[in-house]
Amino acid sequence: MSKVTAAITAIGGYVPEYVLTNAELEKMVDTTDEWITSRTGIKERRILKGEGLGTSDLAVPAVQDMLRKRGIQAEDIELLICATTTPDHQFPATANIICDKLGAKNAFGYDISAACSGFIYALVTGSKFIESGQYKKVVVVGADKMSSIIDYTDRATCVIFGDGAGAVLLEPDTEGYGIRDSILRSDGSGRVYLHQKAGGSVKPASHKTVDAGEHYVFQDGQPVFKFAVTNMADVSAEIMEKNKLGADDVAWLVPHQANKRIIDATARRMGVGPEKVMLNIERYGNTTSGTIPLCLWDYEKQLHKGDNLILAAFGGGFTWGSVWVKWRLEAGRL
Ligand code: UT7
Repeated sequence: MSKVTAAITAIGGYVPEYVLTNAELEKMVDTTDEWITSRTGIKERRILKGEGLGTSDLAVPAVQDMLRKRGIQAEDIELLICATTTPDHQFPATANIICDKLGAKNAFGYDISAACSGFIYALVTGSKFIESGQYKKVVVVGADKMSSIIDYTDRATCVIFGDGAGAVLLEPDTEGYGIRDSILRSDGSGRVYLHQKAGGSVKPASHKTVDAGEHYVFQDGQPVFKFAVTNMADVSAEIMEKNKLGADDVAWLVPHQANKRIIDATARRMGVGPEKVMLNIERYGNTTSGTIPLCLWDYEKQLHKGDNLILAAFGGGFTWGSVWVKWRLEAGRL
């Protein structure tokens, strides 16, 4: 029997309606469209507005879009893994809430926390359940309502992040399509540069922590930038070498959308031209776990069966990694 791989057989995405433009941010903090565009590549981002709405409300429409495209029902899902840094609650897992809202009665679910690398961590984890033969329909959703942990008076972070979600379905394949290889890494010593100070067990939320704004994202941008450039580029080159893939063999780089300068450096290191780089940072900003599946969602019509994709991410933790995917769909269809 030929080896079973986990192929991506459908993609869905969702971004909320509200568009937060650079022009609007210019009125909120001391910044300019020129600074944001030249330093990050971002022009606008989407924000989920509305009382009582959370990350699951971004994930559910993304999964529904994916189910509709594949022509299956929520009851067909066996496992749903949600990558998120902004769960609906500390507990229970957002995956459970998504399953409940979807009516995915036959699925079990759990969350993965790996900041901006969350989607690739979850994708690799999900692929193992398919490869083992235990499950045949695994959903991996990357979703983040970053606006819930952003201080909109802090110009260093509020211009970067946005809200959004993307979902993929993994199914078994015996022709070599799907997740072919991965390299995942982490280094917890990087936590000092990018974290949320309060709200966890080390420093539970209190009036004092809220007054100090410690429930917001803290980022020391420059060191994160340096680590991101080096590690995302290195790990992308490493997975190509490991699998004897030259630049000509790679159809697309699917990079985490944190900063256009980090993406450009990764592509240069891989020897891949800009025409092969998926980019939507200008419209959505950094949606954390959402960036990579939202890229696949945006570009799916341009993807061909057999294309080699290199997915690459770097994020808080630090966490980083790359995944080689042999694309199964032809212009979005099985
Ligand atoms: O996705 C998870 C991982 N995260 C990342 O990969 C993010 C990595 N870091 C970055 O992308 C960049 O470091 C940032 C975009 C966050 C910042 O860009 P930078 O080129 O590293 O700027 P900087 O932090 O070194 O700041 C340069 C200057 C500072 O002013 P002074 O001290 O030189 O006077 C900042 O105060 O730019 C100032 N600045 C701003 N000015 C206008 C910082 N934010 C802004 C702003 N508008 N929004």
